[in-house]
Amino acid sequence: MLIKKNKEWNFYKNITPEATFINRRSILKSMGFAAISPNIIMQNAFAAAQNDPRNDLYPVKENREFNLEEFDIKGGVRKLTKENSVTSYNNYYEFGTTKNIKRAASKLITSPWNISFKGLIDNEFEIDFDDLLKKVSLEERVYKLRCVEAWSMVVPWSGFPLKSIIKMAQPKSNAKYLVMKTFFDPDKAKSQRQDWYPWPYTEVITIDEAMNDLAFIATGVYGKALPNQNGSPLRLVVPWKYGFKSIKSIVSFEFSAERPKTFWEEIQPKEYGFWANVNPKVKHPRWSQEQDKDIGSNRMYSTEIYNGYSKWVASLYKDMNKSDLLYR
Ligand code: MTE
Repeated sequence: MLIKKNKEWNFYKNITPEATFINRRSILKSMGFAAISPNIIMQNAFAAAQNDPRNDLYPVKENREFNLEEFDIKGGVRKLTKENSVTSYNNYYEFGTTKNIKRAASKLITSPWNISFKGLIDNEFEIDFDDLLKKVSLEERVYKLRCVEAWSMVVPWSGFPLKSIIKMAQPKSNAKYLVMKTFFDPDKAKSQRQDWYPWPYTEVITIDEAMNDLAFIATGVYGKALPNQNGSPLRLVVPWKYGFKSIKSIVSFEFSAERPKTFWEEIQPKEYGFWANVNPKVKHPRWSQEQDKDIGSNRMYSTEIYNGYSKWVASLYKDMNKSDLLYR
């Protein structure tokens, strides 16, 4: 027992979170945040989350089709991560490079929220998030989120399949990629004043990946509207890829024939590449990807190819060269 624990600790302590790595280079520049009263902001954030009228839309019906055998709801052992862990241990670089960005993220105003659909589609359009919600059918799905930093969570998201809005946009046949961007508002998101980052956060997946049944747009979590720190009002969830692909607070969906660079490819292409498919056999240049630590319980699990979702997504990559199968 003790030996195993020790081994797990040794494994995990070798990992440098992206944030720490970036911090080493940028810590001097990132100082100078205005003094704020933590209590008042936390009270405001809590009140805003409680009073969010979008909460009335939830809970929604469960779709169990994508539950993994390992989840305890399927007779397995892996439990849902506690809500408090999912909503207080976050990566959201627009609001800071620590995991504790909840308070800073509470400043973002997410209603109204305009979303544009553009690029290779017949009719470009803009739509308010709440109007978009009237055009889709909401459901709850439990997915495992596996961060490239070797931690994981089991999360009950509410939202809708990404393919339902792809069909709405009707991309042209030469559209090969879906480019998604997060808002850019340095007044609210102070890290966006740090101009050595390639803001806004940008993610790209292929149209085939976007049309896959697993690709999901989350608008809620734990039977409530998505809180700001988790990407309110809408974020991508692609559970077979490392968490950094699951872009938060999306303002545009662009259909493109070309593949632009993502936020992380601009910063560290050798470490956070385009495909980012979870793969325990391909180590991160600075740590192993063979195991992941469950946030909350701190238990270690063996990481599986495509994060356990092969059944749904392996066919997407069957014709690729071996080198392309590398997660980056
Ligand atoms: N989206 C934006 N816009 N900004 C970010 O910093 N971080 C990514 C992803 N989406 C990020 C983002 C990373 S690295 C991870 S692991 C997940 O969000 C974390 O999602 P969570 O905070 O809901 O667990």
